[in-house]
Amino acid sequence: MKILERPMKILPKNSWVWTEEEEMGRHTPVMYSEVLSYLRLLPGMVIVDCTLGEGGHSEGILRKITPGGHLIGIDQDDDALSATRLRLSRHEGSFTLIRDNFQNITDVLAELEINAMDGVVFDLGVSNMQLVTPERGFSFQFEGPLNMRMDKHAQITAFDLVNNLSEEEIANVIYTFGQERYSRRIASRIITERSRHVITTTKQLADIVVDSLPVKERYKKIHPATRTFMALRIAVNRELEVLQSGLTQAIELLKPGGIICVISFHSLEDRIVKYEFKNQAGKGRLKIITKKPLVPTHEEIENNRKSRSAKLRVAEKL
Ligand SMILES: C[S@@+](CC[C@H](N)C(=O)[O-])C[C@H]1O[C@@H](n2cnc3c(N)ncnc32)[C@H](O)[C@@H]1O
Repeated sequence: MKILERPMKILPKNSWVWTEEEEMGRHTPVMYSEVLSYLRLLPGMVIVDCTLGEGGHSEGILRKITPGGHLIGIDQDDDALSATRLRLSRHEGSFTLIRDNFQNITDVLAELEINAMDGVVFDLGVSNMQLVTPERGFSFQFEGPLNMRMDKHAQITAFDLVNNLSEEEIANVIYTFGQERYSRRIASRIITERSRHVITTTKQLADIVVDSLPVKERYKKIHPATRTFMALRIAVNRELEVLQSGLTQAIELLKPGGIICVISFHSLEDRIVKYEFKNQAGKGRLKIITKKPLVPTHEEIENNRKSRSAKLRVAEKL
């Protein structure tokens, strides 16, 4: 595992450099006790975790819905499924893990002959395991291929976007999904660099981003490539598109009284959740429980910095 050296040198004291514990550590479930308590879990319930990840939320859910209950864990990442199957093994028989995109939740449940659920959880974004595995290419902190696919079977990678989109398309992706004010400068630099050589690694891309920014922007608390990497990840995985579709289906599949909990980490994601809840509430299908999104406590943020941008919205099916 090779950690990128260059940004470390230019930003020696800044907080984006992960601690060793964070680098190696298991994913810490975000807003864990809030999610578990809003779900009002009871033995016998059927709960779907649409973003199984490393199974933090799922493990807690299983403890409360057994005996008699069943958890369906969906994740599009094979690695998450194999690691989490082991973690949940003490609850064997009480869970089913499925590799799929949550945008196919209706078909997944139909195949399992489950026609309604008592609760559903979406904990969006990437897991720690994905972030710290260099070959997955999600992080500018590790040297790796420009990949960023959560679903290894998906066709498009970050490499494809960076090396094939037009300058305008790259700028639009970085501006829209990353809310990066220097999107045009970054896109222009990418085009110049790729006319000389193919851009293949996370380090190359991180360096291009750093070099394209005005000097004063290179010394910020947040690594200068953060927004560009996030934007490409969102585009590669079509994260906003599948969220809209997954939410609508999940609400449809909830039993009356069933609860939906959604944790988002990006303002565009939160906006989709907010408007989908509003829209369904307007049609009399949903009661919004969190008028404003809940955020992690100071204590949680101190213990898990990656939780700092989390927003939790909860609603009940009518
Ligand atoms: C933030 S992690 C979830 C962590 C989990 N709650 C835990 O406590 O360990 C998000 C997970 O959702 C998966 N994921 C993201 N979008 C998905 C989608 N559209 N369909 C299926 N899985 C998705 C990712 O592969 C990742 O493993």
